Amino acid sequence: MNRPWLDPQLPEPERIQLLLGTMTLREKVGQMHQIANVTSTSQDEELRAGGIGSSLFASGAWAGNQQDAGVRVEGLNAVQRIAVEESPLGIPLIFARDVIHGFRTVFPIPLGQAAAWDPESVGRAAEIAALEAAAAGLHWTFTPMLDIARDPRWGRIAEGSGEDPHLGSILATAAVRGYQGDDLRDEGRIAACAKHYIGYGAAEGGRDYNSTQIGPRTLRDVYLPPFAAAVRAGVATVMASFNEIDGIPVTGSHELIRDLLKGELGFDGFVVSDWGAVGELIAHGFAADAAEAVRKSVEAGIDMDMVSGLYDRHLAAEVEAGRVDAALVDDAVRRILRIKFRLGLFERPYTDPGGGGRIGAIPARRGPGIGTMPFPGRDRVSRPTNVQQTPPAGMTQSISIPESHRARARRLATRSLVLLKNTDSVLPLRTPKRILLTGAFARARTELFGTWTLDGQESDVTTIEEALRAALPAEVKLETKLFPDEAVVYGRYADAIIACIGEHPIRSGEANSTGTIDLPPGQLEALKGLRAYGVPLIVVVFAGRPLALPWLADHADAILYAWHPGVEGAGAVVDVLLGNESPSGRLPVSFPRRTGQIPIYYNHRPTGRPVEGGLRGGNRYCDGPDTPLYPFGFGLGYTTFEYSDLRLSSASMRTDGEIEIRATLRNSGAVAGEEVAQLYVRDLAASVSRPVKELKGFARIALAPGESGEVTFRLLATDLAFSRLDGSVGVEPGGFRCWIGPDATRGIEGGFDVPG
Ligand code: NOJ
Repeated sequence: MNRPWLDPQLPEPERIQLLLGTMTLREKVGQMHQIANVTSTSQDEELRAGGIGSSLFASGAWAGNQQDAGVRVEGLNAVQRIAVEESPLGIPLIFARDVIHGFRTVFPIPLGQAAAWDPESVGRAAEIAALEAAAAGLHWTFTPMLDIARDPRWGRIAEGSGEDPHLGSILATAAVRGYQGDDLRDEGRIAACAKHYIGYGAAEGGRDYNSTQIGPRTLRDVYLPPFAAAVRAGVATVMASFNEIDGIPVTGSHELIRDLLKGELGFDGFVVSDWGAVGELIAHGFAADAAEAVRKSVEAGIDMDMVSGLYDRHLAAEVEAGRVDAALVDDAVRRILRIKFRLGLFERPYTDPGGGGRIGAIPARRGPGIGTMPFPGRDRVSRPTNVQQTPPAGMTQSISIPESHRARARRLATRSLVLLKNTDSVLPLRTPKRILLTGAFARARTELFGTWTLDGQESDVTTIEEALRAALPAEVKLETKLFPDEAVVYGRYADAIIACIGEHPIRSGEANSTGTIDLPPGQLEALKGLRAYGVPLIVVVFAGRPLALPWLADHADAILYAWHPGVEGAGAVVDVLLGNESPSGRLPVSFPRRTGQIPIYYNHRPTGRPVEGGLRGGNRYCDGPDTPLYPFGFGLGYTTFEYSDLRLSSASMRTDGEIEIRATLRNSGAVAGEEVAQLYVRDLAASVSRPVKELKGFARIALAPGESGEVTFRLLATDLAFSRLDGSVGVEPGGFRCWIGPDATRGIEGGFDVPG
């Protein structure tokens, strides 16, 4: 058959149009149909008919909290071969998987990555994940997750960048660029997916999938910016979220998908539903039956149906009956084909099992060697029925993680660690003779990975105990006691106790919300026992969410918050404990004192009765403080920094102008360190009430003891834009305050005007 769209010299729109013009309705619907865990034998007839556009590889059963058997490059090639060589039009499939914070090289969970306030490292992590995933035959990952989260009960707070739209937007850009590079055709690049569009993080009560109430201004000013940033960065795909907003499920929202995302933001890639979400419109009470769910989803702008199978079953009939406009189907297919063309899948639909990247033809079968190398140590493997059971390939087959990938994972893990408390500079540890190591994480391996790590391997991980032993001088005695009672007995004879506590990854991530953010059962009692002898108590907390740590804040000597730090996490933690590295992570989310304070976030709107100086000394609760235990942006180092001399390039900024805001920082301590200087702004009065503070910039600065340096932020008038009373977006004239400081509650202050 003549296939003129295969001519790479033709412009992309022409290639798409040529192909679209040849497709039957059945084939068009096929492109919009994504199934799970395709194999060359299970769905061969459908593949041959051009009835499948994509497959994802994931076990739905545990929503990312249990490994499957991995993907196998030869298996993917075999599937692709049927689509490309045996279907009438030969349209390649796009293969997807949740490569959320690394593939074989597991980086810290995204919330931990956000704590590094280091877009460069986040981008490099995405780049490495893309490289490894592409080598395994994948084309598309369902990340970055851009959901703003103000509720740590929500288990999926682990997967995003926390509570701030600015930090979230910067990291969204870094991640999209990291996965996709300049050109999706380039070797080692895969399509990213900005998810979950939109408002998913606002689930009421922190219960996953729950309803949300988000005002139109909050939606645009708080929840939308990371998605807008991802679109500007050229993200290839967007996943619609499961939730409804004020009665309208996003999967069925014409206003949010077709008008806002595709229209106003100009997104030209395709939108995939979340898992089964088209069918869930029925459960939402938004569609009476499957056909109506299909109609509403297509009309809203869901281009690809993830696994519900309802497009496959009903869409053609709905179009033929005139109930769905055929032009909407064409629009969806055009978008899907656009990304397939951009990925170069028509030219190179296969992946070289020998690690040579995407290729045009399946190589002749090799003998035993790199392509069939046995796969070591998959000891966390579950066996869902429809995931491939054979060993994975590509990068997953290599015997070890490349050192350069490990180095990036180590750097990001180190920077993600947040020192919350350090009484009398107990850290870094100095010449202890005897250390007691305890807590469930002392010997943890895969538990350091965190939620959504489908391809990490236990054999790649060093435990805290091993890393500590390797780093300590031989004469230091290290006792590891995992039973709390035994630890208490040994603790009295130690010079320092390191307690590695926190929550298992299974307690965070999808469908794993908690009703309280207290430490999991039993841990506090164990810590109280250890505290009894007055031996310095250093607590390292591993978690997928902010936990409430009031007792620790009062009684531990040091608290190091490690999130779930990934494959290099143990080495990073030990480096910081021993002072080889100075901690420099900062909280990307406010830490409540207790569950009842939720939601608590720094960029709230002012009330008519501000807390400062109000009733009960500023507390609205009559049973405790209403400030966070640790504020957004907070984190200690092994040195201190003084901020001085705030300077503005001008005391006024035009509504289309910009100013520079600078400050001097001095390392006033005795050791070198890195500070994350943060710029906050407040719009004092406007047509609608504006947040008490908003992050507008941040910069890492490394200073030697006694050294001074300057940070400079360029603030544009567009950075001050918000959804105004009349619904338009822009800056309004008036007075502004600004701060440069170490967190959302402190800083040196200045002000400027935007004249009318
Ligand atoms: C459901 C999750 O909400 C989404 O984040 C994930 O990418 C898909 N399942 C695919 O596994």
